[in-house]
Amino acid sequence: MFNVLLIGNGAREHAIAEAVVQSGHKPKLFSFMKANNPGIASLSQKIHIGSYSDLAAVKAYAKECRIDFAIIGPEDPLNNGVVDALKEIGVPAVGPTKNLARLETSKSFTRDLVRKYNIPGNPKFRIFTSMEGIKEFLDELDGIVVKPDGLTGGKGVMVQGDHFQTKEEALAYCKQVLTEHPSVIIDERLEGEEFSLQCLCDGKTVVVTPPVQDHKRRFVDDKGPNTGGMGSYSCEDHALPFMTQREVTEGLAITQKVAEAIYKETGEYYKGVMYGGFIITKSGVKLLEYNARFGDPEAMNTLPLLKTDFVDVCKAIIDGTLDTLNMEFEKKATVCKYAVPKGYGLPKDHPDAQSTSARVEIGNVGEARLYYASVDKREDGLYMSTSRAIGVVGIADTLSEAERIAENAMSAIKGPIDHRPDIGTEPLINRRILHMQQIGR
Ligand code: GLY
Repeated sequence: MFNVLLIGNGAREHAIAEAVVQSGHKPKLFSFMKANNPGIASLSQKIHIGSYSDLAAVKAYAKECRIDFAIIGPEDPLNNGVVDALKEIGVPAVGPTKNLARLETSKSFTRDLVRKYNIPGNPKFRIFTSMEGIKEFLDELDGIVVKPDGLTGGKGVMVQGDHFQTKEEALAYCKQVLTEHPSVIIDERLEGEEFSLQCLCDGKTVVVTPPVQDHKRRFVDDKGPNTGGMGSYSCEDHALPFMTQREVTEGLAITQKVAEAIYKETGEYYKGVMYGGFIITKSGVKLLEYNARFGDPEAMNTLPLLKTDFVDVCKAIIDGTLDTLNMEFEKKATVCKYAVPKGYGLPKDHPDAQSTSARVEIGNVGEARLYYASVDKREDGLYMSTSRAIGVVGIADTLSEAERIAENAMSAIKGPIDHRPDIGTEPLINRRILHMQQIGR
């Protein structure tokens, strides 16, 4: 019998909680959340509401609940050193230490690591701690991406053509970034289709999970501002319609080399999720960034397909025995869509921006899985906050069937919500395929 501590309160953590409690080991789940997620609470023996920066409270809760191991959902507690804090009291974790979480928290660390160990995948890039030399470097690039060196909730990356047009605007953004962050990373803009590859790592062995495509833009047809992710899909053949198995293997090979490099560089084994954001370009698979955790929404595509006992997976990560585990995923397609408040991601002066903190009612979602994100269960019902509210996931033999299941579920959620009906649909998938054909790879 295991006592498992889960840290986090989103839909990703709801999916993790579900995978934990479905284990044949019959573990007891204890959850440390910054806000009460009713889905996670219903699966937990006990919950604690607290701040992810209050490491003393996390340790006290872990001791009180006699925790055997912890799973860290979001990046903030990793950045705060929660894994190191738990280690001090003998509690191992699925999640890297603060030092190794730099894979996500410091984009300069990762770019430098990949360069130093001659790992393929870096675009042309430079890291700047002052404005000196930035203008000259921008002149060398056909397209520009500006990234702050630090956590930005997925919303700090600015891409030329999408978020700004001119070099002058890029320079102004770099200047702004340098007032808030130690450095700014400038990448050449790459043309292609993006995919998320969540790999599990025990420090030595890296195991791939089915690739997923996320949709960051707020509105249909990839219009509007970037969000945390409006939904995602994966396919029954464990590739994506615009990619080959060789490209999945390329992403995995980069991640294996990065795991090896992390050990050589730090002497520490990386234990947790290495989620690579990759892009398929004319000249192969390139690395956009790593995250040190499961993706949100991607975890909702991946974990429900896991056939292997999730507690065994966690134990193998912690014990360094992933090489002995036969990890299997169902050969099914998945489509995840997020129900968000109408005002989500909109500027404050937009007419819809005030429709937050509204009540939602959930009817019959049929065969779909439902994962709570930012919702508050009050006496008179379920209320949304300003963030993504509820994830619904269709799972089926084909993408179109999975999409239909997710859409049906969405229509059972009543309230001032919005979602992206195009995610997982044929026209959008065909556009992705055409895009890759036009690139000529
Ligand atoms: N899907 C984006 C993220 O988890 O950061």
